[in-house]
Amino acid sequence: MTDFNRRLFLAASASAPVALAPIALAPIALATATPAAAAIGDITLKAALEGRQSSRRFAPTPVAEDALLRLLWAANGINRPDSGGRTSPSWRSANDTIIYVATAEGLFRHAHETNTLEKIGDTDIRAESSDSAFVSRAPALLIFVSDGEALRKAAEGADEQALAVGAHVNAAICAQNVYLACVAEGLGTCLIGGAANREAIAKALELPEGSIVTYIQPVGTAR
Ligand SMILES: Cc1cc2nc3c(=O)[nH]c(=O)nc-3n(C[C@H](O)[C@H](O)[C@H](O)COP(=O)(O)O)c2cc1C
Repeated sequence: MTDFNRRLFLAASASAPVALAPIALAPIALATATPAAAAIGDITLKAALEGRQSSRRFAPTPVAEDALLRLLWAANGINRPDSGGRTSPSWRSANDTIIYVATAEGLFRHAHETNTLEKIGDTDIRAESSDSAFVSRAPALLIFVSDGEALRKAAEGADEQALAVGAHVNAAICAQNVYLACVAEGLGTCLIGGAANREAIAKALELPEGSIVTYIQPVGTAR
């Protein structure tokens, strides 16, 4: 801006206050207006972060399916229907994380496209999933699996170590969303890396070669 223009601008600004007319905003179709997103516990981000913690004692009460679906949407749901974008980022958009849920009712696979649970078996695999009682007896056990084919396709040329890191980071971000959603839902959870019987779980899920169990995450009412 030249000196002349600056003086003109300052003079105009000082002498002519502008009355801002309210701008009528067209209603925005929020991508998050999916059933799960709309119903998720409406707490502030501050409250969710303040409440986030690991819980290792759960009441035996089952987790209601709608609450479970809200946790799964938070973990790995679609928040941008136009592009299919997810609530969690993933390395090179691999979207390799698949979440299974083990309960007393059997084994389920989260279908992120519809945010529904597809029953894939009647067997309760919680007991063999971990030697830790608080994990194996939790009302719902989330099982994070990295789809090896999807990850390798997205991260072409990456070495095995990078692939393993990517698989775990992608799952851990989903898990953090579950932690925060649990605060909103009044539920407790704990991410489990060490106490996961990965081989037994992989066998029960009949995972294909290259797919791995990254973490498991029990969910229930904390007590
Ligand atoms: C990658 C990862 C693996 C974890 N594995 C276990 C585990 O095997 N068993 C367990 O009881 N907690 C596990 N945790 C939970 C941590 O122990 C917990 O986050 C930590 O003690 C801090 O407590 P807070 O989450 O309540 O802040 C794990 C956490 C992370 C991030």
